[in-house]
Amino acid sequence: MKGIVLAGGTGSRLFPLTKVTNKHLLPVGNKPMIYHPIEKMIEVGIEEILIVTGTDHMGDVVTLLGSGKDFGCKFTYKVQDEAGGIAQALGLAENFASDEQVLVILGDNIFKQSLENAVSNYPGTGAQILIQRVHDPQRYGVAELDGDRVISIEEKPESPKSNYAVTGIYFYDSKVFECIKTLKPSGRGELEITDVNNLYISQGEMVSSILEGWWTDAGTPESYKHANKLVLGE
Ligand code: DAU
Repeated sequence: MKGIVLAGGTGSRLFPLTKVTNKHLLPVGNKPMIYHPIEKMIEVGIEEILIVTGTDHMGDVVTLLGSGKDFGCKFTYKVQDEAGGIAQALGLAENFASDEQVLVILGDNIFKQSLENAVSNYPGTGAQILIQRVHDPQRYGVAELDGDRVISIEEKPESPKSNYAVTGIYFYDSKVFECIKTLKPSGRGELEITDVNNLYISQGEMVSSILEGWWTDAGTPESYKHANKLVLGE
């Protein structure tokens, strides 16, 4: 299994913190935000990790991370020219993945639990999402559940069908790249990861697990502060 950290986007919700740098280079606890998803991948034995980020700060990202030698892994880098959405960023990983399964983590997702159980729970084909109960589901992709089965996902719904947010931790087989090629931009002009996940669900190829332990994104001023508190409280 290979790893993909998506660290593009504009970081506009954290402006002016992101005026001269990339969101994923800001500190969360005592390390840059992007270290957190990378360390989760290394913890489960992933050795090859692709970092996708925009043109503006790719140089700083490479300066920070280097070849991977200091982390005990190997980094590859790919530029996303414009912030065209999470699924667009993932689509850039096709050659890197070269038919292997991938663990994808959004660069602003910070969480406590090791992904060991999730890795063993992934059947190896199809997709797996990790979900967690939240008090503000409108901010996320929200899973509609039938018992413990996810039957659909809605992106930032006004009237969420559950309190279960879809976290930014995803497992895919190599079919994901064909699936991304069929997507059309959403109302906000992005290729949505939720559309990718709904395609897997419609084909009966999605499993889901509950992510235990704390989890947050760090993409808004409130959640950024919260992420720092959680990490520093450890
Ligand atoms: O955090 C989990 C949520 O992340 C999910 O519940 C949602 O379904 C998913 O759409 C996403 O929602 P956000 O609105 O929080 O996504 P955001 O635009 O903040 O992007 C999250 C990360 O994805 C960001 O830190 C970097 C990466 N990204 C995003 C975009 C739009 C890219 O690499 N390229 C992009 O073009």
